[in-house]
Amino acid sequence: MNYKEELLKKISFHTAKLGIIGLGYVGLPLGLTFTRKGFTVIGFDVDETKIPVLNAGKSYIKHIKADDIAEAVN
Ligand SMILES: NC(=O)c1ccc[n+]([C@@H]2O[C@H](COP(=O)([O-])OP(=O)(O)OC[C@H]3O[C@@H](n4cnc5c(N)ncnc54)[C@H](O)[C@@H]3O)[C@@H](O)[C@H]2O)c1
Repeated sequence: MNYKEELLKKISFHTAKLGIIGLGYVGLPLGLTFTRKGFTVIGFDVDETKIPVLNAGKSYIKHIKADDIAEAVN
């Protein structure tokens, strides 16, 4: 199986690991959407203040619920 086929298989079985660069208004909800679909998501952000907040299962964006962050982190 070549790389493309392997990747497509991982995407269809939701076993692909996704990286999202920038956990802001676009990246954070995007990451949450993929975790709800069963994917493992690794988020990257240069803002060091956001990382501990998100890892603690808290939200820093008003319309995103802390429970949703906590569920994704867990
Ligand atoms: N918000 C929108 O409605 C919208 C619409 C169209 C396009 N965009 C584009 O999408 C992108 C993200 O927008 P946003 O609203 O989520 O911005 P945002 O400022 O809310 O989030 C961007 C995040 O990326 C992080 N970041 C910046 N440089 C980084 C790097 N080198 N490595 C890792 N993380 C980094 C920032 O710390 C921040 O947390 C922008 O390019 C924006 O122009 C946004």
